[in-house]
Amino acid sequence: MSRSVAVVGGGVIGTAIAWQAARRGWRVRLHDPHFASGASWVAGGMLAPLSEGWPGEQDVLALGVASLDRWSDFGGTLESETGLELFTSSSSLTVALDSADAEDLRTIAEWVGEQGREMRVLNRAEVRELEPSLGRAVRLGLLAESERAVDNRLLVEALRRTAVTAGVEFADGPVHDLGALDADQVVLAAGTSSPKLWPGLPVRPVKGEILRLRTRPGATPPPGRTIRGTVHGRPSYLVPRADGIVVGATQYEAADTQVTVAGIRDLVADAEALMPAIGEYELHEATAGLRPATPDNLPLIGRLSEKVIVATGHGRNGILLTPVTADAVVALLEGSDLEDTRAADPGRFAGS
Ligand code: GLY
Repeated sequence: MSRSVAVVGGGVIGTAIAWQAARRGWRVRLHDPHFASGASWVAGGMLAPLSEGWPGEQDVLALGVASLDRWSDFGGTLESETGLELFTSSSSLTVALDSADAEDLRTIAEWVGEQGREMRVLNRAEVRELEPSLGRAVRLGLLAESERAVDNRLLVEALRRTAVTAGVEFADGPVHDLGALDADQVVLAAGTSSPKLWPGLPVRPVKGEILRLRTRPGATPPPGRTIRGTVHGRPSYLVPRADGIVVGATQYEAADTQVTVAGIRDLVADAEALMPAIGEYELHEATAGLRPATPDNLPLIGRLSEKVIVATGHGRNGILLTPVTADAVVALLEGSDLEDTRAADPGRFAGS
């Protein structure tokens, strides 16, 4: 008899775990009343642990890099099994619009270099040569050549298809009690809903609004890379897609998913400061999602009990951290653990 696992949560984290566990011979049932409708659907799809690095956050960087290193194989397998083209950019470029931002980029480059990873500082002319559509106010750039981006919605579809092929059963009834699930093991991967099923779990919603823009005939082409920058103190990014650009993202301590006028105003103004031609695009969609955040910006990946494993709290980095999380949970299911995710063990918080 094969062993059984119930995975609660059908975002990219839960579906990747379900897929990988089924490939290892587990009987898997994936529970979600609204498959992939949360943060995975809204996401930008950047894989950018170096560009988001900051001195003091060694564990966050190490975990992100461990997952980025897995992405080529992980994404390549999904692409070859489904025929979908997931990767939409091959590198990321963070730009500075003022001298304080330029200083921050040099700090990041130096610190990431000390952690053994290379980023290249580019002057204004080098930035403009790489990305001519960027604004004239750009004065410095930081290039992370290994930081790709993926189309999150194609990723959701690829994971769904490979999970089905691997034998994962999908259940759309709501789960109110983990103890009632008929399985040998349970994986809780329900994002911001996770604390409802395991009270005390330190996960809170951080709202983000995001825009999906489509190119129009004659419009300036999208940048070739993911473009990131800070405008008026707000982080802004442009992630290329086959048909346009994803512009992100606002960040508030809030639990609603309404798109606000102020959110759209800020996103458009900040994107325009990075790429003045953005106004030529069609505003196709504005969405809001809830990032499942933890107090220390590391996710929760580990055992909560002999039967329950948690994999949530990925904050801004759910898409990036999908491959390493799936590997870690499969290792836990099979009685071992993964060194790469030890810092994310939920035991670091009393009450988990
Ligand atoms: N992954 C970027 C964000 O959450 O805005």
